[in-house]
Amino acid sequence: MNVLLLEKESLDDAIAACVAERGYILSRTHEPQEALEWVRTRRVDAMLLDTACGESLIAKAHSLVPELPVIALGPEDAALAAARSVGRGALGYLPIAQGKPLTPELRQGLLNMLARAAARLRVEADRQAWHEENQRTRKFFEDVLTDVGQGIVVVDKEGRMRFCNPKASQILGLSDDGGSARLGGRAAVPLLQMLVETLVDEQPRHRMIALEQEEEQVFLDATTSLLRAADGQTTGAIGIVSDRSTEKLLEQQLVHSERLATLGSLLASIAHEITNTLTSITACAEMGLEVAEAAEAAAQEATAGESNPIEALNTLSREIREIFDMTLKAGLSAQTIADNMLQYSRQGMPGAMERRPLNALVSESLTTLGKHLGLDKVDLRKHFDPREPAVRVAPSKVQQAVVNLVVNAIQAMQQVEPERRVLELTTRANPEQGTASLEVADHGPGIGPRRLEKIWKSFFTTKRHGTGLGLYITRKVIEDQGGSISVESEVGRGTRFTITLPLD
Ligand SMILES: Nc1ncnc2c1ncn2[C@@H]1O[C@H](COP(=O)(O)OP(=O)(O)OP(=O)(O)O)[C@@H](O)[C@H]1O
Ligand SMILES: [Mg+2]
Repeated sequence: MNVLLLEKESLDDAIAACVAERGYILSRTHEPQEALEWVRTRRVDAMLLDTACGESLIAKAHSLVPELPVIALGPEDAALAAARSVGRGALGYLPIAQGKPLTPELRQGLLNMLARAAARLRVEADRQAWHEENQRTRKFFEDVLTDVGQGIVVVDKEGRMRFCNPKASQILGLSDDGGSARLGGRAAVPLLQMLVETLVDEQPRHRMIALEQEEEQVFLDATTSLLRAADGQTTGAIGIVSDRSTEKLLEQQLVHSERLATLGSLLASIAHEITNTLTSITACAEMGLEVAEAAEAAAQEATAGESNPIEALNTLSREIREIFDMTLKAGLSAQTIADNMLQYSRQGMPGAMERRPLNALVSESLTTLGKHLGLDKVDLRKHFDPREPAVRVAPSKVQQAVVNLVVNAIQAMQQVEPERRVLELTTRANPEQGTASLEVADHGPGIGPRRLEKIWKSFFTTKRHGTGLGLYITRKVIEDQGGSISVESEVGRGTRFTITLPLD
């Protein structure tokens, strides 16, 4: 504690010794102006004032530092001066005057008063620290409420707006800047309405407020809840509002583009599958034309008596029956594909799941292929697991996948010499893993590592008339049924696709 002694003439030096004894620092002056200057510019925690210098100095010192403890010193007989000093705000009065020694009683009195001054100083320091902390906390919360990315509105329990941060003014169009300015405060109405509802039934609210602003739509996400004091009494309600217009717009655009993408891939896959069956139908029509030509030739030969007309007719009708049979199958298959696609587009999940033996399922897939897609041009070797694993699948979907892989293998092997055109189909039960697998392995040219990364992508093709959807659809179909598909390939040796499906 710094103690300043203003004395008209030097007082007993025992005062300095007494102050020092308590660890306080004493400064002395005879000049009132100098004393006031010290109070103003330096740290003075207590002042000892010789009233001979003028009692008005107490008020002057207090005008500089209102809380400064001042201990007035004066002649022993000046009871009136003492009363006046205390009346002017001095902490106390001690009869210490020039030429008088500091008696032990006065010494004790001085120490007591300095102790009171120090105590007042501590209280004042605590009050100051508390005040500063309070200010800091207040500023912190003000900054948080101002800078928070959401708008905050507070109403009292009568529903009157008591607080609105800048973000809320901007979002609700209450201020001139920001996106919703042209709403002219219209958005505040539904929010205030929600706040009042919350005050009435004490329930929180969450709504999306949609408003038209010129040609655009504005979407505000608003939440309200009750504000309670520590004793549980309702003090008002708080509303938090954020502008979701941009997200909403992006969301709408995303939904739109996703729909387009789904529609696009659906249309493309329909085209791909229908193309396969149309190829069969076209092939049948070509065969039909050949048969018609043969029929005309046979008719001419029979007319010329060169052949037996009944025998020729029998052969022709057998061939015609075969062609119509194949056409019918292809037509039915196209119909199934269209049905499946419709079903897929409606539910996103293809076909009903059934328990089917995997070996039979693979054989049936090959039957639908028919010789016109080139199965007759390869050496087909089946290595079917005699344990006859059964899987739970949508059969037509798995057949579609198998056909896609087999057609790819046949097409790939057209690029190698006929002796190497061996297609191996292997089924396996893996009971430990709860799966069954089908391998489709060819001895074609194989696929290089860089191309191998791309083959699953939609529309990736290296074929002149390919759509690049075969493997894309195959993977989707297998994964839709809880299965998986992988590929291994070596350039110059061949490619092996492995489909794994859950055992039933
Ligand atoms: N067994 C295979 N051997 C070598 N390359 C293959 C094999 N299977 C697929 N590929 C490569 O993967 C590409 C993509 O195959 P995908 O079945 O997806 O489409 P595509 O066969 O080209 O066209 P689409 O199936 O419409 O006829 C093929 O173009 C081919 O380059
Ligand atoms: Mg293909």
